[in-house]
Amino acid sequence: MNIDWDALRDHARNAMAQAYAPYSDFPVGVAALVDDGRIITGCNVENASYGIGLCAECGLVSNLILSGGGKLVAVACVDRNGMALMPCGRCRQLLWEHGGANCLLDSVSGIKPMSEILPDAFGPDDLITRK
Ligand code: THU
Repeated sequence: MNIDWDALRDHARNAMAQAYAPYSDFPVGVAALVDDGRIITGCNVENASYGIGLCAECGLVSNLILSGGGKLVAVACVDRNGMALMPCGRCRQLLWEHGGANCLLDSVSGIKPMSEILPDAFGPDDLITRK
């Protein structure tokens, strides 16, 4: 499957521009290519109760499921300058759940599979093989 990384980054930048981040003043946008070819996006949505703010990847995953599900093939996450931003630990787990080991991430050190972003990950398979 051809991945247009520049287009994906642009989608992430557009999503970042929609972020609701009045508390951190740190807008984040994320975009992903799904295995059926569609592009989905997300932005962070904060809250006056700081701890319950939602990362951009939370919105992405919600949009993934809401728009028909599928598997994430490639993900680009950006900061306010449109530069690659590494997903936080929790969000790496979210991406793992819906993208698996081979999903590619536009990381700060190049395009890498999720198996390198979240090594030896816990995931859905463990719930089956270790029961
Ligand atoms: N943030 C994300 O949206 N995704 C990440 O993976 C890293 C952090 C957001 C959460 C918070 O709204 C802001 O960035 C500052 O931490």
